[in-house]
Amino acid sequence: MPYAQIAGWGMHVPSRIVPNESFVKMGLNTSDEWIASRTGIEERRLAARNEPTSHMAVRAAQHALYVADAHASDVDLIIVATCTPDHVMPSTASIVQNRLGARRAGALDMNAACSGFVYALAMGAGQIESGRAKQVLVIGADELSIHLNWRDRTTCVLFGDGAGAVLLRATVDPGILASTMGSDGSGADLLMIPGGGSRHPANGNGRANGDRYLRMNGPQIFRWATQMMSRAAEDVIATSGLKPEQIDLFIPHQANLRIIEAMAKRLGLPADKVFSNVGRYGNTSAASIPIALCEALAAGRIDKDDNIVLTSFGAGLSWAALALRWGVNMDLHPSRWTPWRQGFETRVAAMRSAVRRQQRRVRASLDERFRGDQN
Ligand code: ACO
Repeated sequence: MPYAQIAGWGMHVPSRIVPNESFVKMGLNTSDEWIASRTGIEERRLAARNEPTSHMAVRAAQHALYVADAHASDVDLIIVATCTPDHVMPSTASIVQNRLGARRAGALDMNAACSGFVYALAMGAGQIESGRAKQVLVIGADELSIHLNWRDRTTCVLFGDGAGAVLLRATVDPGILASTMGSDGSGADLLMIPGGGSRHPANGNGRANGDRYLRMNGPQIFRWATQMMSRAAEDVIATSGLKPEQIDLFIPHQANLRIIEAMAKRLGLPADKVFSNVGRYGNTSAASIPIALCEALAAGRIDKDDNIVLTSFGAGLSWAALALRWGVNMDLHPSRWTPWRQGFETRVAAMRSAVRRQQRRVRASLDERFRGDQN
C-alpha cells in the first residue's frame, strides 16, 4: 500500500493588515488590550473585493507545486476546504483547477468549517493510499470577513482571511500515519452563518433573507474546543502507534491562544512543542493549519522524520486530527526553471480556457442558427 506524504506547501494572505487598534478607530467598544489578552490576536489580514477565495487558493497552490517541483497537469485531484466559496456553484476547486491548468484533475469543495483542511488532508491521503490517485492538492482557503458584522465586537475581531495548500504525493515511506474525524450536530447552532442556504435562501437582490452574518456562542465553543482539541490529539496519537513523547510538534487550529494553551496544558506539552501564529492572522478558518504549517517550516521548527500532529475544531460542531511523519529534506532546492515553467503553464491554462469558452459560444450560435433554419 502506498503512503501519502506532503511534498510541497504554500500559503497566501492578503496584503491588507488590520491591527486591533483599527476596531477602536472604527468606533467599536473594544481595545487592543482586550483582544490581545483574551485571544492572543494582534492583527489579521483582510482580502480586498477583487480577491475572492479562489484567488488566494491559487496563489497558495502554485507555491505548493513550486516547492514540490510538480506540474499542475500531473495532479489527479484538487480538494478545496472552504466554507466561503466563490459561489454556491460551481465549486471553488473547479475554478482553481482551471486557473492552475490542472487538466487531468478532479475537483471538489469540502465544507467542515475550520476543521476542513484536516478533513481534506485525510480524504486526500485516502485516495493515495487506495491507489486511486498519485498526487492530490489539498487547499484550505477562507474569507470569513465577508460574513462578519463589523458592529459585533464579539465576532469581528476574531477572524482573518487567507489560504494554505499542500501537495500530497504517493511514496513508499510513511507520511500520513493516522487520522480521526468527528462531528456533533447537536451544537450546530453554536456557530453558524444562517442565511444563503436552502433554509434561508438569498432573495432576488442576491441578499440572504436570513442573516448572512456569522453568529457564535463564544464561551460555549471555548469550553468545548479546549476539551475536543486535546481528546482528538490523544486519539490520533494512539491510533498512529506513537507515544505522546515521540511527537515533535503540535500544530493546532489557530482560533485563540488561550484555547491552544489550555490544550497544551491538558496534554502536558512544553511550549516549544506547540506552534502558534494566531497573533498575526487571527482565525483564518480552514486556512489556519496549512498557514501555520508553512510558517513552522519557514521558522525551522520541522526537520525530516519529525512526527507532527495537526488538531482542529470548528462549526458543525466538527473536529479532526491527523498524525504525520515529515518526509522532506529541508535543504531542498526546487529547479530554477520551475517558476518559469509555472508562469508558462498558467498562461497556457488561461489561453486554453479562453479558447474553450469561445468554442462553446460558436457551437451554441451554430446550434441556434441550425434550429432556426429547421423551423
Ligand atoms: N472587546 C471588548 N469586550 C468584549 C469583546 C471585545 N472584542 N468581545 C466580548 N466582549 C465582552 C463581552 O460582551 C462580555 O461583556 P459582559 O461581561 O459585559 O457581558 C465580556 O467581554 C466577556 O465576554 P465572554 O464572551 O465571556 O469573553 P471570553 O473570555 O469567553 O472571550 C471569546 C470571548 C474570545 C470569543 C472566546 O469565548 C473564544 O475565543 N471562544 C471560541 C471562539 C472560536 O474559537 N470560534 C471559532 C471556531 S472555528 C470555526 O469553525 C470558524
